[in-house]
Amino acid sequence: MIPDSIIVALQKEMQKSGYISRDAVNRIADEFCVSPTQVYSVASFYQQFSFTPKGKNVIAVCMGTACFIAGAEKILAMLKDELGIGEGEITPDGKFSIQKNTRCLGKCAVAPVVTINDRVYEKATVAQIKEAINELR
Ligand code: FES
Repeated sequence: MIPDSIIVALQKEMQKSGYISRDAVNRIADEFCVSPTQVYSVASFYQQFSFTPKGKNVIAVCMGTACFIAGAEKILAMLKDELGIGEGEITPDGKFSIQKNTRCLGKCAVAPVVTINDRVYEKATVAQIKEAINELR
């Protein structure tokens, strides 16, 4: 059984670095005297842990069916154009990243839905999201 303290160590690494690097997996494995594979399997089980770096501001555009029909594609296209990055990428200054493959966020009635960090934009518009990222620049 994996001790809860490994999860706590992974959470601390996420807070510090924004993702779980290979070095971090090895360091945590050493610290808890388990194999890197065990640490990796714990980290990959929980969605809260990421193995790729994220920007200071993480943007997610829901591309589920309801949001797609409601125009999410236009918002995503604007973001790619404005930020010069694709899904799963991070801006060179590290300020923004666009989450890859965001599917239904459970708010289909208020589609399209976009999240920027902890803030949820319901019935989001291109203009609204463009303004939001300009405020964060
Ligand atoms: S499809 Fe976007 S919230 Fe459900």
